[in-house]
Amino acid sequence: MTIAFIGHGYVGLVTAAVFADFGNTVWVVGRTKEKIEILKQGKATFYEPGLSDLVKRNVDVGRLLFTLDYKEAVVPSEIIFICVGTPPKPSGEADLTNVFAAAEKIGKNLVGYKVVVTKSTVPPGTNKKVGEILAKVKPPGASFAIASCPEFLREGTAIHDTLHPDRVVIGTTSDRARDMLIDLHKPINTNLVLCNVETAELIKYASNSLLSTKISFANAIAVLSERVGADAEKVLEGVGLDSRLGRSFLYPGVGYGGSCFPKDVKALIALSKGHGYDFRLLEAVDEVNHSMRDHFVEKILRHFEGNIHGKRVAILGLSFKPDTDDMREAPSITIIEKLLNHGADIIVFDPVAMENAKKVLPSSVIYAKDPYSACQDVDVVAVITEWNEFRNLDLVRLAKGLKQRVLFDGRNIYDPEFVKKLGYMYYGVGRM
Ligand SMILES: NC(=O)c1ccc[n+]([C@@H]2O[C@H](COP(=O)([O-])OP(=O)(O)OC[C@H]3O[C@@H](n4cnc5c(N)ncnc54)[C@H](O)[C@@H]3O)[C@@H](O)[C@H]2O)c1
Repeated sequence: MTIAFIGHGYVGLVTAAVFADFGNTVWVVGRTKEKIEILKQGKATFYEPGLSDLVKRNVDVGRLLFTLDYKEAVVPSEIIFICVGTPPKPSGEADLTNVFAAAEKIGKNLVGYKVVVTKSTVPPGTNKKVGEILAKVKPPGASFAIASCPEFLREGTAIHDTLHPDRVVIGTTSDRARDMLIDLHKPINTNLVLCNVETAELIKYASNSLLSTKISFANAIAVLSERVGADAEKVLEGVGLDSRLGRSFLYPGVGYGGSCFPKDVKALIALSKGHGYDFRLLEAVDEVNHSMRDHFVEKILRHFEGNIHGKRVAILGLSFKPDTDDMREAPSITIIEKLLNHGADIIVFDPVAMENAKKVLPSSVIYAKDPYSACQDVDVVAVITEWNEFRNLDLVRLAKGLKQRVLFDGRNIYDPEFVKKLGYMYYGVGRM
């Protein structure tokens, strides 16, 4: 099959490369000349484990093609996926400008019959509007069906998730479009959820919001654990062993970030408001999430009796989660800004996100070449992202460079007893 993807971000490029690897001819449309030139050479434009090899392999055999020209991609393709960004507006609603702009350009280039699928996360009603745009601008004689196939991949494991998703959701009322999409997804052996467009659109928001709810619940339990002298990790282990509940996403920390959870929770709150429903549960989820950054900084402040002016703080981990260079809504940003506001000096290290971090962090931040040099002559070490590299740090070697052995573990990756035996003062989240 020949198919097209509009947008080559985490969703567009990964999905395009995987479908090309299945043997399809895949066109990818971008809007930045420099990036398209890099992609044409078979190089990925962001860090995602395994992606460079996958892109290169499929570019080399001519199955993965990149262009700035919608016509070049749309005309030969049977199915066109919209994978553009849907960032939040100040109101929390999803900004659909990119989706509608893409729809208009696809529509103008329609010939014959095409299935136009939205993969971007969009609120119910969006695909219907995409259909209206296509109908308005399409040339006479062209026909189309719309469908919604929301994407559930996670950055850091995006290729694995695309190859082995828990489910593929196909939302459409067109039998022909549904059958074509089922056919395309045949190499992926998983559960199919067949539904109408609005249901598919809402499945994505409901999934991300429930995952966010689990994280905020774990964080609320962690705050309470600190107050009552419980160990949140043990509490959540005990909770998670209940097969009705499970342990996944019940891990306390400094809160969720990234380009999806924060914006999708806010978008579902805004969507609900627009339909006369006050989704207070999600308002609390969002509020708990933000409060965890404050909670973390307050603990550092408390350790220094409220004054961290001139203290040197090493921050280990900047990306919003491990195995990505994505800094969007990363908790590290807020935590660093707050510490700087209190007069601390900040030295940071991240295995892959430092270039992206430089674009968003204040200019006074100092970048170190490895975790050990980041922790040289510092008063506090704070782990913000649970990179495996940090789990295996040589804490004895690290201690030698420290002014004081104080470790704030924002992701509970260390064994408190072990760390304390090495002479550190240890602060986890929800543990003593
Ligand atoms: N990142 C994730 O983990 C993830 C997972 C599931 C779903 N999603 C959703 O998928 C969508 C895309 O997310 P992403 O992380 O890939 O975004 P991204 O910001 O990484 O990439 C978006 C891409 O769209 C391109 N683009 C925007 N407007 C365009 C236009 N008019 N024509 C051509 N290209 C255009 C941009 O240049 C960029 O390449 C969002 O709605 C997001 O919520 C993201």
